[in-house]
Amino acid sequence: MVTSSAPGKVYLFGEHAVVYGEPAVPCAVEQRARVTAERQAAGLSVHTADLTLDGFTVEYSGDATGQPDIDVSDSLVEAAMGYVNEAVEQARDAADTPAAGFEVTIESDIPLGAGLGSSAAVAVAAIDAATRELGVELSREELADRAYRVEHTVQDGQASRADTFCSTMGGAVRVEGEDCRVAEAPELPFVIGYDGGAGDTGALVSEVRDLRSSYDFAADTVGAIGDIVRRGEQALSEGDVSEVGRLMNFNHGLLSALGVSSRSLDAMVWAARDAGALGAKLTGAGGGGCMVALDETPETAAALDYTPGCERSFRAELDTDGVRTEDGKGSGGHT
Ligand code: MEV
Repeated sequence: MVTSSAPGKVYLFGEHAVVYGEPAVPCAVEQRARVTAERQAAGLSVHTADLTLDGFTVEYSGDATGQPDIDVSDSLVEAAMGYVNEAVEQARDAADTPAAGFEVTIESDIPLGAGLGSSAAVAVAAIDAATRELGVELSREELADRAYRVEHTVQDGQASRADTFCSTMGGAVRVEGEDCRVAEAPELPFVIGYDGGAGDTGALVSEVRDLRSSYDFAADTVGAIGDIVRRGEQALSEGDVSEVGRLMNFNHGLLSALGVSSRSLDAMVWAARDAGALGAKLTGAGGGGCMVALDETPETAAALDYTPGCERSFRAELDTDGVRTEDGKGSGGHT
């Protein structure tokens, strides 16, 4: 039996635009998905609990391709099972054991579909645990690539490498098309606001794709997000956290123009700005879920707690480990 964990992430800059080849800078945060894989004779059984922070808890037990044995009718659960299915397929392929059976257990601190990269973290941790259970140790690069293929398949070809690369490597990363690298970042005082909801990543990506092909100014907006990311990288390398915050504000405005913000995300963004945050923006696909602000004082978190629509706020530390095994060996097993 092997347990691996992988972190979620926030986007400092560049979500959505990264799907069209613009750069993006996501940062891994210390909210983890833990996946345990154990060989069984055949097939796949999946158990999950706590797939969200404070909201509902999903109890799922059964074949990942069968009917979930749960009383929450939620397409998010189905989607999560799709990621596990594909991740196990990737592990079987990597170990050249197409018929290997698994019992998989998922526990996660990361709310589902809320912009913190829950699906990427589950995919990365599941491939890592299942391949190790089969006696195979993948390089981090191969693990990130296989996790990307999981997202690509489940999201109908609409995924960038950003979430899965970030969850595998940890820290701040920069992704532009196939070019994925670890990035330098100063200490960033992240505060996250969560509205208790979720967005449908596939649908939101499709909506931006349609806008971008229908309107030149939407295509220009996607390009302008790329310009913000390039300026943001410069600010990060100079350790200019105020400028990073200012650019996050711009980035939120452009995401809002592309239609992926929501009333509650906007309310939380404005509450953070009014409380003195250096910057605030939605993170991830949008439509609901989480926003991220930069504030080293307690003011933003306190303001968010009184913001209608905000279910919970919390401070998040940058996670520098990326994927790791949970058997006491730390992350040193990866090459
Ligand atoms: C979702 O976390 C981020 C998006 O840019 C989609 C992707 O990069 O695959 C919206």
